[in-house]
Amino acid sequence: MEAAAVLKKYEQYLNPSSTRLFRFMGLTGVEDHASGWTITDTDGTDYVDCLGGYGMFAIGHRHPKVVAAVEKELHAMPMCGKVLFNAPAALLAEKLAALTPGKLQYNFFVNSGAEAVEGCLKIARLATGRPAFVAAANSFHGKTFGALSATGRDLYRDPFQPLLPGFTHVPYGDLEALQKTVNEFTAAVILEPIQGEGGIIEPPAGYLKAVEKLCHERGALFIADEVQTGIGRTGAWFGVNQDGAEPDLMAVAKALGGGVMPVGSVIGTEQAWQGLIENPFLHTSTFGGGQMACAAGLATLQVIEEEDLLARGKATGAYFKKGLQELQRDFPQVIKDVRGRGMMLGMELTREGAGGMLMALMIARHIIIAYTLNNPKVIRFEPPLCMPTTVVDLVLTQLREALQEVAAAIDDL
Ligand SMILES: Cc1ncc(COP(=O)(O)O)c(C=O)c1O
Repeated sequence: MEAAAVLKKYEQYLNPSSTRLFRFMGLTGVEDHASGWTITDTDGTDYVDCLGGYGMFAIGHRHPKVVAAVEKELHAMPMCGKVLFNAPAALLAEKLAALTPGKLQYNFFVNSGAEAVEGCLKIARLATGRPAFVAAANSFHGKTFGALSATGRDLYRDPFQPLLPGFTHVPYGDLEALQKTVNEFTAAVILEPIQGEGGIIEPPAGYLKAVEKLCHERGALFIADEVQTGIGRTGAWFGVNQDGAEPDLMAVAKALGGGVMPVGSVIGTEQAWQGLIENPFLHTSTFGGGQMACAAGLATLQVIEEEDLLARGKATGAYFKKGLQELQRDFPQVIKDVRGRGMMLGMELTREGAGGMLMALMIARHIIIAYTLNNPKVIRFEPPLCMPTTVVDLVLTQLREALQEVAAAIDDL
C-alpha cells in the first residue's frame, strides 16, 4: 500500500488530528522493517532511532535471539491456556527475581506499563489495607484510571475526573514534603527513579533510599515505577540501583519484551504479595504471562547479559551526554540544560516552540527524536543501548546543523 493511502486511512479511521500533527512534523513515512538502531520506511529511507519507541527498544530492533525465542513458542503454544503451567513464565519470573534488588520475588505478568502500575496499586492496597497513595507532581505512570490517578499532570487528568480518590501529589525529590504527607492511611508511595515523561528529572542522591526508609517507618510500601528506567535504560538493571534502594513493589514493562513482544511485570516481596497468596484470583489477566511474551522477556535479559549492554549503554550514554553538553555550550540561547544517565538523556530547550522545530528538522535529516509527554521543552534521547559511538557522532553532527537553524529563529519561537 502507498504511504499516502496509509496516512489517509489513519486520518479516517484512527485519528485525524494526530495524523495531521505528524504530517506537519514531516513524519509521513510508513514503517517497513527495522534492525539494530535503524528503522526503514516503505520508500527505503533509513531513520536513526534516537527515541527507541519511548524506551522500548533497549536491545535494538528485532534482535535475532528474541525473534528466535518467540518463533519457537509461536510454533508450539504461543499463548497460555491458563490451566496448565508454562515454562517460559517460570523461567522469566525466576530471572526477574534474581535481577531485581532486595527481596523482590513474586511476579504477575502483564501486557503494558499502565497495567503493571495498576497491579502495583491494587496489591499495595491489599497488602496494607490502607486506601491512600502518595505520588509525585509531574510524574507519568500511564493513562488507565488507576495509573492516571497516580500520574501528576493535570492536562491528562482533568478531562477524566473524578479519578480514584486518595492520591496526593508532592514535589519530586523533596523528602520533607513526603515526610509531611505519608501517614497511617498511606498504602504506598509510587515514584519513578528518574522522571521520564516529566522531562528526564533525576532526584537528589539518596532520595530513593530515604523514601524506602520513610515508607517502612510508617507502614507503607514503596512502589518503584521502573517501566521506563528499568531493564538497562540508565546503565544499571534498574533505576533504583543507583541509590541501593529496595522497593516493595516494582512495575516493569517497555524494554522487557525486547521490542518484539508486549510484556511487563508487577514484582513484589513476599510480604507485599501476602493478599495474592491468600487469594490468587483477586487479580488476573487472560493474555498476561503467555509463552511468546515470557520467552521474549527471558531472551531479552539474556541478550543484555551476553552483549554487556549495561556497561555499553552506560559508556555510550556518557559519551552522548558529553556531546550534548558541548552543544549546550555552543548554543546557550537554545539549550538550557542537559541531564540524565545511561541512555536516558534529556535536553531542555529555552523555548517551548524550539522542541517541535528541532524535532521536524531532525526528522528531515532522518533522525527520530521526540519531546517528553509532560514537558514539550525537553527533547529526550533513548536510543538502543547497543548504538555505537560512531552513530552518536552522526546524530550530534546533524543536531549541530539543526540547532544552527533553531538558533537563527529562536526569537520567534
Ligand atoms: C514511568 C512510566 N510508567 C508507566 C508508563 C505507561 O506505560 P504504557 O504506555 O506501556 O502503558 C510509562 C509510559 O511511558 C512510563 O514512562
